[in-house]
Amino acid sequence: MVNKITVVGGGHVGESCSLMASQQELAKEVILLDIIEGMPLGKGLDQFQAAPVQGFDTRVRGTNDWADTAGSDLFIVTAGVARKPGMSRDDLLKTNAGIVKSCAENIKKLAPESTVIVVSNPLDVMAYVAMATTGFPRERVIGMAGILDTARFRAFLAMELDVSVEDIQALVLGGHGDSMVPLVSYASISGIPLTYFLSQDKLDPIIQRTRKGGGEIVGYLKTGSAYYAPAAGAIQMAEAIVKDKKRILPCSAFLQGEYGQEGIFIGVPCKLGKDGLEGILEVPLTDDEAAALNTSMAAVRGTMDDLAKLEY
Ligand code: 2OP
Repeated sequence: MVNKITVVGGGHVGESCSLMASQQELAKEVILLDIIEGMPLGKGLDQFQAAPVQGFDTRVRGTNDWADTAGSDLFIVTAGVARKPGMSRDDLLKTNAGIVKSCAENIKKLAPESTVIVVSNPLDVMAYVAMATTGFPRERVIGMAGILDTARFRAFLAMELDVSVEDIQALVLGGHGDSMVPLVSYASISGIPLTYFLSQDKLDPIIQRTRKGGGEIVGYLKTGSAYYAPAAGAIQMAEAIVKDKKRILPCSAFLQGEYGQEGIFIGVPCKLGKDGLEGILEVPLTDDEAAALNTSMAAVRGTMDDLAKLEY
């Protein structure tokens, strides 16, 4: 358990993160920060009033004041606007770049030793904005997307095969966009290769549904995007870091030569522990998977080029 985790942004993803972090007692104190007057204070108070019932002692509270986040060990940045039907994550670029930049400036000033998990979209590029603005090393700025994308793949496989989600291992790499790369060669059910259970014909629609999994939920919700599974993904990363679990999880990390790329964040298998990003695993890929990963990297680079042209 660490002393203080701050969740930045009190929307659906943020409030779910603060509740889950508190329920799991990941820190002595969890702060939920938002600029909307009063809102995070109400949510934080409500969440702490669940504590006596559920039996957690994490002091969770909301604030409108960045000063309350000083000295946080870990930040989960969820601030920004969400997609509406018909929008891509990249459509959020300018607005969210400005928001994430201003959050990162505060984090740099108030908690220069902290680790930052970025959840805001477009994810891979927002992680870059956070790292560039804080000036933190890549070990301490990591994006959450691969766990979510992999969880969607696992959930769809469980639904198709009527097996426990717990027994499904999978890996989705690449950017957090429709070109993400679900890796069939690394998917298994209790060690039995996925191809034993499903023919390519059956797998293809599941892969496509995974790629568009965020958009499917936006289509249903109409006023915003998913939040329970994104929050669960961010909390799994937070747990790995604060408990020094050395977990191997797909996360968006800043590449410095891995997979033949540098200068971008992209989803790759990462080792997470108390020092944040403790390693990137360069796993062998089939030719098709390597080509798909390159396509996905090109898509993220395209958004990075758009960012470079913006004033934010
Ligand atoms: C998603 O995929 C919000 O990007 C997030 O649902």
